[in-house]
Amino acid sequence: MPFWRSSSVLLILCALTLSQAFLQEGWPDNYQLTDGERFDFIVVGSGSAGSVLAARLSEVAHFRVLLIESGGDPPITSVVPGLLITLQGSKYDWNYQAQFDEGVGQAHPGRILPYHRGKVLGGSSSTNFLIYARGKPQDYEEWNRIAPGWDWNSVLYYFKKMENMSEETVMMNPRNAYLHSTEGPVKVSRPVTLASTAAIDNTRLECYEEMGIERVLEINGPEIGGAARPHFTIYGGRRSSTAEAYLRPAKDRPNLKVAKFSTVTKILIDPHTLRAYGGTANVFNEIDYVQLVLLHPLSRGQVKLRSTDPLDDPIIDLGYYRNAYDLKVAAEGVKYINTLINTTYFRKVQGEIPRLSVTGCEKIAWGSDEYWECYARNTVASLSHAVGTCSMGPDAVVDERLRVHHVAGLRVVDASVIPLIPSGNTNAPVMMIGEKAADMIKADYLEDIVEYNGKDFKSFAYTNEVW
Ligand SMILES: *[C@@H]1O[C@H](CO)[C@@H](O)[C@H](O)[C@H]1NC(C)=O
Ligand SMILES: *[C@@H]1O[C@H](CO)[C@@H](O)[C@H](O)[C@H]1NC(C)=O
Repeated sequence: MPFWRSSSVLLILCALTLSQAFLQEGWPDNYQLTDGERFDFIVVGSGSAGSVLAARLSEVAHFRVLLIESGGDPPITSVVPGLLITLQGSKYDWNYQAQFDEGVGQAHPGRILPYHRGKVLGGSSSTNFLIYARGKPQDYEEWNRIAPGWDWNSVLYYFKKMENMSEETVMMNPRNAYLHSTEGPVKVSRPVTLASTAAIDNTRLECYEEMGIERVLEINGPEIGGAARPHFTIYGGRRSSTAEAYLRPAKDRPNLKVAKFSTVTKILIDPHTLRAYGGTANVFNEIDYVQLVLLHPLSRGQVKLRSTDPLDDPIIDLGYYRNAYDLKVAAEGVKYINTLINTTYFRKVQGEIPRLSVTGCEKIAWGSDEYWECYARNTVASLSHAVGTCSMGPDAVVDERLRVHHVAGLRVVDASVIPLIPSGNTNAPVMMIGEKAADMIKADYLEDIVEYNGKDFKSFAYTNEVW
């Protein structure tokens, strides 16, 4: 038997053993909708924000909540973090195709980039690479200038509300522990399951240190810059998606119904009252950005309807490098990364920069500034962390309480409302948005609920002295 065959058998055996270890039960039942049913809140999409919102709203026993999701239960490949690579391009992925402008991304066939978004309970929190990164306090202070109420202290309250930080080194250090909580539903840890991966991480961190990048305890700690192994939404070998952390524990609530394999195609708006009501929309797709990551690009893309058919995928124009400054920054970044070659480790292994021949750059002298610009322009890819297509702000789509301007009874709660690109992966901020939105809605509909307002929150970690 050829070797690859026996190893694939082994893989299947492993998967079977795993599936017994991680019982695939406990997801909410599928709810069969009938015509004319009424709910107090209809949440479209069970992603990083939707599941949080539906679960939190259904804590109020007299709120009847419907959560609508196009996909079904997370498969074993989602639950077990090590198997996640098989999710991209599968039926658990919306498999969108994003497009580059003319002259950009020529290294990608057809100038098309697969754009991965989870189509499953938990959305992309069930299919992503599990990185838990909040972004920087400054991101939120700037955000707060556009939409009051989103300052760092206010959002920190919700980051803590959702999180169960299982890593002791973080909780033992008061400067760090202050920023975290062990009481929330989303488990966060830094598993060292494979000694080999830990060693690679260590080597990488040493290289960074040699380049003058400080090593810090964690990426969500009080330091603004620095390098550390990231935190993951994993605990006990299980992915802590929003389906896992929020929907499973809420699955028996009689006032929370989850309609799976259901797609909203329309939101009806009463022309006289401008109030949104039932009907079934897929308008608010959560999109995300960024690999040598341009954290704060100036270029902007667009998401547009392809047709009037709600089941058609949207047109995703990445818009990369529409602003020429981004290209300068990216080319400088590539050159900076190249200096890794001069660190002790890479010298030891005699690392070299491969002389890639990039489609579109064949005629440019390898290694020149012009070459690196061409390289950056044509190899650019995406980590699928786009934000801001339905941004909040006075002149934008929603207000700071996430209400669609001029329409009653309709809010947008997902990555699309983020007004400025945060310094990191989007899953954590989007879960935070779900938490904060739930409190805003409760405050609007219940008399005895006061949502958190960070003004008198005692903070020592983020005083001016730190940033
Ligand atoms: C938080 O996680 C720990 C494991 O690190 C667990 O023992 C504890 O019960 C969790 N707390 C909550 C509130 O779920
Ligand atoms: C590595 O160091 C050498 C010698 O100091 C220098 O000439 C070279 O430009 C460096 N390479 C990179 C990619 O920084």
